[in-house]
Amino acid sequence: MRNRKKFWKIGREEFCTENFDISRSGDIIVKEGNYQYNLYELAKWYGTPLEIVFPFIIEKRVRRIIDTFNYYIKYFGYKGKFTYCYPMKVNPRKEFVLSLVSEGANIEVASANELWIVKRLWEKNRFSSKIKVVCNGPKTEQYLALIAELKKEGLNIIPIIEAPNEFEYLKKFKGDIGVRINLNLRVKSHWDHKIGRFGFNPDEIIELGKIKNLKLLHYHVGSQIEVWEDLVNAVKKAMEVFIKAKKENPTLDTLDIGGGFAIPYEKRKKLYSPEVVIKNIIKNLSNICNEYQIEHPNIICEWGRAVVAPAQVTIFKVLSEKTIPNATAKKWYIVDGSFITNLPDTWGIKQRWHIVPANNANSKRLEKVWLAGISCDADDKYTSGGNYVLLPRLEDSNGEQYIAIFDTGAYQDSFASHLCLLSSPTKLLAQNGDIKVVKKRESSEELGKMFGW
Ligand SMILES: Cc1ncc(COP(=O)(O)O)c(C=O)c1O
Repeated sequence: MRNRKKFWKIGREEFCTENFDISRSGDIIVKEGNYQYNLYELAKWYGTPLEIVFPFIIEKRVRRIIDTFNYYIKYFGYKGKFTYCYPMKVNPRKEFVLSLVSEGANIEVASANELWIVKRLWEKNRFSSKIKVVCNGPKTEQYLALIAELKKEGLNIIPIIEAPNEFEYLKKFKGDIGVRINLNLRVKSHWDHKIGRFGFNPDEIIELGKIKNLKLLHYHVGSQIEVWEDLVNAVKKAMEVFIKAKKENPTLDTLDIGGGFAIPYEKRKKLYSPEVVIKNIIKNLSNICNEYQIEHPNIICEWGRAVVAPAQVTIFKVLSEKTIPNATAKKWYIVDGSFITNLPDTWGIKQRWHIVPANNANSKRLEKVWLAGISCDADDKYTSGGNYVLLPRLEDSNGEQYIAIFDTGAYQDSFASHLCLLSSPTKLLAQNGDIKVVKKRESSEELGKMFGW
């Protein structure tokens, strides 16, 4: 039993699977305190494709980030304050956002529509009156008007200037503003671009000179940054600009370090812990500020993927199998979900996933397989980068084999689509021992309507 857990990388904190276990009969289970959720039973009961969200995982992960920042702030005698802002684009679903806010998260938005959701929640008093909202992204007139409206209503809202036209418009804004810097820093990540397109170059920010009500300097160097040193180097590089900009703008007192903390999706090797990154961020900030004799800036962090990815699993059923001649894998397993439409990063950025059997995890006879999605697109498949996925042989599972795909809580919901008019998975919320259906698979009629029928 212990070996099975080790084999499937279950119950390992460094792989974000510490809340998962394998039952005696070989089903994957999730443990929330005294409550247990059996993925196989849930898949049989609610059908597949299925997504299950575990808010307790979101809450634990965001708490760890907030507590660790506050711990090292105290440890190093750092004078600035820490604020966590959840970037709504990572997963804007209600069950995600409300779980985060309940744990003390603030919000980062990137569009007028995301801000509209904030407005609705704010007006219904679902937020603390002190919640901070950082507004990134290109500002349309609708977006700017909503920022102004919410500022007037008393929301602590900070627009971030990303382009010269915004700078002109926000000169009239009566409140704190931020500016986004393009650090032009190379990092180990899919999003490491030679030429960045967001924000101002360091020289341009200095040339802007005095910026009315400048409070915050923001950057985001990329997502899924594979080595922690890159996250810390970005802080050091940003501080070079911060120190220069502060000379002209004494009101500047906050550094927003954006997102980027990575998830060990593949579970082949350990990545890094929040503790090591946060400790080094605070230590370096402290040293730099002490050396240049400036006050310690407040810190805003927008790590999104790191908080929400491990809080959702996706479950598909294997419908049938087919032999593959002359390949690293021996068989196709055709599943009832779609990699292209339900897990679009598989297609978009060649995302690798950790895939395990949701039942029969004790099986000793495993097959090397590739997974074929249910849509008609030849790219709707998962080959683990031309390698293979190990799964139980179908003849050992009475034709009932389910697979669990880990860490699907970040970005997949917002990119998802409906190729072949496929319905999206049913989404369940598993919380305090209860199961709630928060989204049903769309009926043919509902899908037809979406496409004008
Ligand atoms: C401005 C900004 N902040 C935060 C994030 C979240 O990044 P991550 O999910 O890598 O933490 C993004 C992602 O694109 C972003 O553009």
